[in-house]
Formats: sequence, C-alpha cells, structure tokens
Amino acid sequence: MIQVNDMDLPTLKEVYIGKKKVIVRTGFDVPIDKDGNILDDRRIRLSVPTIKYLLDHGAEQIILITHIGRPDPKKVEDRFRTDKVASRLSMLLGLAIRKLDDHGENGLPSPKDARIVMLENLRFDSREKSKDVAERDSFGRMLASFADVYVNDSFSTCHRDHASMTSVPKFIPGCIGLSVEKEVSTISGAMENPKRPFVSIIGGLKADKLNAVKNLLKRVDTILIAGALAFTVLKAFGFETGSTKIDSEGLKDFSGLASGLKDDPKVILPVDCVLANAFSEDALTITNAVENIKEGWMALDIGPKSVARFKESIGSAQTIIWNGPIGVFEFEKFAVGTKEIANALADRASSGATVIVGGGDSASAVDKLGLADKMTLVSSGGGASLQMFEGKELIALKVLRECVENFKNKEDRRV
Ligand code: 3PG
Repeated sequence: MIQVNDMDLPTLKEVYIGKKKVIVRTGFDVPIDKDGNILDDRRIRLSVPTIKYLLDHGAEQIILITHIGRPDPKKVEDRFRTDKVASRLSMLLGLAIRKLDDHGENGLPSPKDARIVMLENLRFDSREKSKDVAERDSFGRMLASFADVYVNDSFSTCHRDHASMTSVPKFIPGCIGLSVEKEVSTISGAMENPKRPFVSIIGGLKADKLNAVKNLLKRVDTILIAGALAFTVLKAFGFETGSTKIDSEGLKDFSGLASGLKDDPKVILPVDCVLANAFSEDALTITNAVENIKEGWMALDIGPKSVARFKESIGSAQTIIWNGPIGVFEFEKFAVGTKEIANALADRASSGATVIVGGGDSASAVDKLGLADKMTLVSSGGGASLQMFEGKELIALKVLRECVENFKNKEDRRV
C-alpha cells in the first residue's frame, strides 16, 4: 500500500495475480499523425514493466484497454483504432497480442488462444465519457466482467471520471500499476516531504495554473513564474504587455490571485524578455526589461537576466517541480530560456536533487532536448500532474481507495 495525501492505495505487488484474468487500463493515448502512425511511444513503453510483472506472476489472461485521442463515437475514424499501439507493444514485449475490433461485446478469445488481448479504443463507445454515471457504470460493469482484477496503469487519465477509470474498479478488486505507483509516489513525496530548498517553476499559458501556484506557495521556498503566465501576472500588476499572448479571459477569474503575488517574497518573475514583432521564427527581435514592452511587440521568451536569476534559485534546490514551457520553444529563436532551464534542471538531477517535470509541453521540451532520462520523473500526464500540484485528489485514485473493500477474499490480496 502507498500513502498519498493520507490515503492508502492498493498497489500491484499486494495483489495475487496467479491464474487470474487481469484487465489493465493503460494510457496509450500517444501522439499520432493523420494516418494514425505513432509519433512517440513513451506512454506505451511505460506500461511494459506492469505487463511483464503480470506475465511473470502467472496471470491467466491480460486484457488491455485504452483510449486514443478524442474521437467522435458517432463516426469512427480508423486512425484512432488501437491496432498500431497493440503492434508496437507486441514488438516491445516480443509477444503476440490479439487485437479485437470491439470492446468484448462478442466475447473474448480463450486465454489459451490469446494470453494478451487488446480491446478497441474505449472512446468509440459513448458510455466511456458519458456524464451519466449509470451509463458509465453499465460500460464499466461489462469491462469488469471479463476479469478478476483491475489494474490502473494510466496516470495520464487519473483525473478523468470515465468508465474505464472510475467505474470498472467498483465491480472487481482494483489496484494501481507500477507506472502509476512511480508517478504518484514521486510527486506526492515531493509535495508532502520535500528536501529543501524546494523550488517550483510554472510556465505555460493558462491563468488557471495560478491554482497550482497558490497551492505550491504553501509548500515551496521559491516559485519561478515564466511563459505567458508570467505576463498575465505582470498585466495584473499593471504592466503594459503589448501584443503578448496572455490568457485575458482567465485573468478575469484570477486577477485577485495574480495581484496577490506582488509582494510575496517567494515569487520570482522575469525581469527581462525577448520581444518579437510577430509570432514567427523570422520575426524581428529585441531584448528589453519587462517594464518596457511597447505596443505591437510580444514577449516570446524570458531574457538573459531572468535566465540568470532563475538559474541562481535552481542551483541550490534539492527538490524541483517544473510545469509549463518558459518560452515558445517550438521556435528555435525563442527556445533559449526553456533550454537553459531544462539543462540547469538536468544538472541538479545529476547532483542528486529530485527533479519532476510535469507532463504536456514541458515533457515534450525535455524529450526534444534529449534530457528526459536525466530527470527523476517526467510525468506522463499533464492534466493529472497539474491537479496533484494544485493539491487535488485524483478522482480515479479516490475511487480505488474507496473500493478497497472489493478485496473480500483473502486469496485476493496480501495485507
Ligand atoms: C492526456 O493526454 O492528457 C490524457 O490521455 C487525457 O486525455 P484527455 O484530455 O483527452 O482526457
């Protein structure tokens, strides 16, 4: 059992697996191109240890479920089918996987014929994401009927109240898989019991990230605010931000929170920025103080003085949480801030500090820079990790904890 925010979560290693059928919710929502080709298989590789563990511990059959993308259940598009993720996993495991074109409505192959089965994209059935709990439960009950045990190995969807995350575990004993255990225990360990100094870097666009800033301020020694969010905050302080793309809508809801950061000694904002006259790689650029953003110019990266100031804080940190890019790193010209900070984090991780990179864009940035393996954890879930930084309990983990009484029989669980 691991303890997360005072809650006990059943883990895979406590569950008896031998001769059981196990349904595993994986997070194979990988980036794909227009033909459904996989652009990055990190999320598939993450589930390999859990699947190998189940095979090594004698699971009779492993039934894999996942969603990919946000398909419209009314018009099924082939590119969202799970065939390609099943093939990629089969290659990684060196084992055959039987892919079904439905969700098991027409029966499952026998374990002798197919030890590993992959069902079709869960979101092809509208009940998966239905707002109606009875509909979600009817889908969840059907999926649960195929197995004796449920394993949630999809951290990236733990914040989603979807049938495969929160209904299936109502009907059969459920636990978290090895990748979810690693992500949840690393993030909650840093949040609850950080080595100090504890520094957080929050970038990106959305003003609602200020919820995470608010919660982190209770825990960190220093918070560095970057990306468009920094300019949203500066706007709330009364600075001119020119044409910088800020979350003006979001700012309406968060202006009080943003203004409140002004005199907080823990908060560090950029002092200078790289300004462009257009949102383009070929734009004209100048570097200026943040007080000096003229009409028609937009901030697309932080400037050298800010990089130096940020690196000074990072240099002594023992725990670091990073969520959201520092600048528009997709354009080489405006990737300097993101690169400098990512390299500084990799150096800290090599010196023994705990460095957690929240999923989404910051994870893509460290991947692109080839630094992912250097970090303590690059989370697979942008939304889910952000909710943990906000101090919220992830709904799928809450349900697993609440359904712990499903382990009624002593042959189900070692406790
Ligand atoms: C993700 O990519 O963050 C998860 O797979 C969740 O996907 P969703 O935002 O479509 O629910």
